[in-house]
Amino acid sequence: MPITERRLSTTVLVIGTGGAGLRAAIELAEAGVDVLAVGKRPKEDTHTSLAAGGINAALATMDPEDSWQQHAADTLKESYLLADPRTVEIVTQGAARGIDDLERYGMAFAREEDGRISQRFFGAHTFRRTAFAGDYTGLEIQRTLIRRASQLRIPVLDSVYITRLLVHDGAVFGAYGFDLTNGARHLVHADAVILAAGGHTRIWRRTSSRRDENTGDSFRLAAEAGARLRDPELVQFHPSGILEPENAAGTLVSEAARGEGGVLRNILGERYMSRYDPQRMELSTRDRVALASYTEIKEGRATPNGGVWLDVSHLPRQTIMNRLPRVYQTLLDLQMLDITRDPIEVAPTAHYSMGGVWVRPEDHSTDVHGLYAIGEASSGLHGANRLGGNSLIELLVYGRITGQAAAAYSESLTAQPRSTAAVAQARAEVDELLSADGPENVRALQRAIRNTMTEHAGVVRDEQGLRAGLTELDTIEKRMENVGVHPDIAGFQDLAHAFDLKSAALAARATLEAALERRETRGCHNRSDFPDMDPALRVNLVWSLTTGITRETIPPAAGEIASLMTDVTTEGKLME
Ligand code: FUM
Repeated sequence: MPITERRLSTTVLVIGTGGAGLRAAIELAEAGVDVLAVGKRPKEDTHTSLAAGGINAALATMDPEDSWQQHAADTLKESYLLADPRTVEIVTQGAARGIDDLERYGMAFAREEDGRISQRFFGAHTFRRTAFAGDYTGLEIQRTLIRRASQLRIPVLDSVYITRLLVHDGAVFGAYGFDLTNGARHLVHADAVILAAGGHTRIWRRTSSRRDENTGDSFRLAAEAGARLRDPELVQFHPSGILEPENAAGTLVSEAARGEGGVLRNILGERYMSRYDPQRMELSTRDRVALASYTEIKEGRATPNGGVWLDVSHLPRQTIMNRLPRVYQTLLDLQMLDITRDPIEVAPTAHYSMGGVWVRPEDHSTDVHGLYAIGEASSGLHGANRLGGNSLIELLVYGRITGQAAAAYSESLTAQPRSTAAVAQARAEVDELLSADGPENVRALQRAIRNTMTEHAGVVRDEQGLRAGLTELDTIEKRMENVGVHPDIAGFQDLAHAFDLKSAALAARATLEAALERRETRGCHNRSDFPDMDPALRVNLVWSLTTGITRETIPPAAGEIASLMTDVTTEGKLME
């Protein structure tokens, strides 16, 4: 046992202190259940705080005809029929309650003059149903949840990096990790564990995630514990990530910019969306807008830095200041660009893992007893294209449900066998990396994975590229055997990067293998060698460390929802 190893014990351990983790922790604490939340970033600065444009619920405050059924129909249709209809119903039906919860905790939503919650258009929604707080919606939600968590005195350790879930006989009994500042080990025993540690979009070079966010931790922790992943290849590329400066490339310009009337133009000044989706134009689905921009860039109509123009300068200055304040500030800070005067140079950016840990729709339990996954770590709601604003509402809805499910699971236990071997293995893994003194640099290998994924598994993919990606990954994994890990006086970040690298490699493998298997074009997944949707592939691809990929059928949508859906088609989508 290491000299400094802190032993903790709780009823439910929540890994991840973003919106999903905090909402689940709140549910548990409100029910009087002992809960501990741990995260690797300061809770005030988790990825949720970057979420910009809004959160969806069919409140019908602006468009009285809206209904949760129409929200469900839009979500299913735009998922290209890969979303799980039960998950979609649970989220859309529970969405108003999720907003109520936030209001109960004191969230400051933007409102109309008469006090109604304002709702804006987001791409491919039939009605205005995106509630917001300027374009700082995620930040406001995070602050609101932190306030509530602190009222409830929920313990939050937000400098603990979890390296491994502890499992015995197919049931989780805690997790192992270390403190990022002083390296002290943490052995946490828990009846149940909720995994809310995000997705894997940081394994692309241009991404809306910051350096140590969304590195695939949830994928690795779950897969190594014996859980499966669903549709890891389905990654949303958001149409508008900035291009400069290089170290912030991919930073998001919220879809709210287009929702408020922003337009996209190529270098010739053409509003090119008229060629791809003349009806919905810039408010088409994200996959279509991203592919359209990609095509413009590839076909030589790119701006000087290889992007397209997103222009809001024709909007009233007050609209920009009130409804797009973050976009305004971000561009000033990063580029000294005044968006009230000049267009923004943008290109598609890896933004959201629509696949994730395989979970059951009713309670987000996984294949491992006592292990739950929520938020971007999980899967089921988005299929092959996520509607903007749906992820924030998902974490509110499933945070509540998962919290209740984990509490009930704990209550049902009469005993919890643990495994000293599992703990020893977790300790040894950290020891081994800490003593690694090879010539390979962890950060350089992370970069190599990002290059591979960007080159071979971006907006448009093909068989040859994906196979080349897998070959490159084999080489990178070989090099990973010779890494050197060097924590220093500043802290144990280098050890964290080494674990991030392991996670990135696993997430990349799952993604490349599933992308190879999905020999069709559907939503975000564009195969230039298979440009059509294949009805036989209207299945989820489920990946595990032991079985590789299997196919899972998707149940049909309920009649009342199906009748509100219009045909899903690839018409209007141009392949390079
Ligand atoms: O563009 C945005 O504001 C992003 C929203 C989302 O991904 O839900």
